[in-house]
Amino acid sequence: MSTLRRLPLETINRIAAGEVVERPASVVKELVENALDAQAQSVDITVEEGGKARIVINDDGHGMSRDELLLAVERHATSKLAPDADGHWDLLAISTMGFRGEALPSIGSVARLNLSTQRSGEDAWALRVHGGTQSGPEPAPPLGLSGTRIEVSDLFFAVPARLKFLKSERAESMAISDVIKRLAMARPDVAFTLSSNGRTSLRLMAKGTDEAARLARLDDILGRDFAQNSIAIDQEREGVRVTGFAGLPTYHQGSNRHQYLFVNGRPVRDKLLHGAVRGAYADFLARDRHPALALFVDLDPHKVDVNVHPAKAEVRFVDPGLVRGLIVGALRHGLANAGHRASTTTAGFALGRARPEGAQSNDGNPPPYQSAAPWSQHSTPRPSMGENTRFAAFDAPSAHHEMQQTAQIEETQHLPLGAARAQVHETYIVTQTEDGIVIVDQHAAHERLVY
Ligand SMILES: Nc1ncnc2c1ncn2[C@@H]1O[C@H](COP(=O)(O)OP(=O)(O)OP(=O)(O)O)[C@@H](O)[C@H]1O
Ligand SMILES: [Mg+2]
Repeated sequence: MSTLRRLPLETINRIAAGEVVERPASVVKELVENALDAQAQSVDITVEEGGKARIVINDDGHGMSRDELLLAVERHATSKLAPDADGHWDLLAISTMGFRGEALPSIGSVARLNLSTQRSGEDAWALRVHGGTQSGPEPAPPLGLSGTRIEVSDLFFAVPARLKFLKSERAESMAISDVIKRLAMARPDVAFTLSSNGRTSLRLMAKGTDEAARLARLDDILGRDFAQNSIAIDQEREGVRVTGFAGLPTYHQGSNRHQYLFVNGRPVRDKLLHGAVRGAYADFLARDRHPALALFVDLDPHKVDVNVHPAKAEVRFVDPGLVRGLIVGALRHGLANAGHRASTTTAGFALGRARPEGAQSNDGNPPPYQSAAPWSQHSTPRPSMGENTRFAAFDAPSAHHEMQQTAQIEETQHLPLGAARAQVHETYIVTQTEDGIVIVDQHAAHERLVY
């Protein structure tokens, strides 16, 4: 017969850690979220060996007093939930990233956690929790005006069985970088740096809080191409607002890895939201192609439950139909308005197909959409007149130039699309065939070529 037992605290914490701390990136996520909840303006992250050996996070937030520091590593202690006047704890009134009081004790139970913190005008204090064993608090060297420094080393030393589930240093580093980028996209007003094995791999200046700041932050993270090939989205219905930037259909990817979705500033990978995006682009993209976008859904916290997933990566909407309809509508509306625009990369490509040289670009790279790599690596510059040698044939024609081109054009004008002669409004290509001219909508042409 089995014996029913109460588990010791240390075991309880390790079980909780199993859900909260899956890999180094989850530690980084929890600690950066804590820094943001503490109103930090600047968050610096340092990792060694993909975070397996060491993670250090410095923030300039409000810090903790000695007593708060002691409570912070206690399970179910949080400053982020409070009872209302009737003593009622409302779990749907959450405006912070954290609310469970689980992260620090979980990390301290499976790794070596060293905290030091300082409130403005107070002394700094340090505390250690190594594999669940606590020591301190003790006085610590000052940390500037206020802020917190958290160091996590030897992750999973206390539960070695979990070490074998960790991926390569490179894969863990990439996961850490991805977590920081996602959090940083939602907070362009905060500066972030990430350095890995002594090398700074990400440096994001604080930009501000408006739409321009958001686009500038996305530009820093996703590259200039995204800003050039996306449209602004902003729609509201019944208190739910969706804003952000959606990639043009011609600017598509092989996976949905570059779809960044946020609910009340929290990065999520929600099936409903991804499904809505797929639905909105269904008429524009083949099934195996995906748009790039960053969409921010904001609504009354009472209309969404964030307490449904151990890593808070999924949410549940009180009215999922409303949210889905709003996203699909906002994206379709935006895409219809942008119907005449082809991506900067596509315009270049379509011209390349029509002109004598064929599809190969000048740099010898394949057209961007055929590559499995992120779009920014193979993109071609914006095809404005004369800016790119690929479009030399469309510069103001000189007699000399035309003579050189004539032979090649004669060879190619028997092709169905003939020989490209001009580009109009960066949208239409005029080609010369054996017995006439063809006007090609390069956006439509690109779609025909791809599908
Ligand atoms: N960087 C920080 N600056 C100031 N206070 C912090 C910081 N990190 C943690 N704290 C304090 O410690 C408490 C415990 O943090 P912890 O991450 O364990 O729980 P939480 O953030 O409240 O909830 P969750 O488990 O959902 O993250 C927080 O509620 C906060 O008061
Ligand atoms: Mg937290």
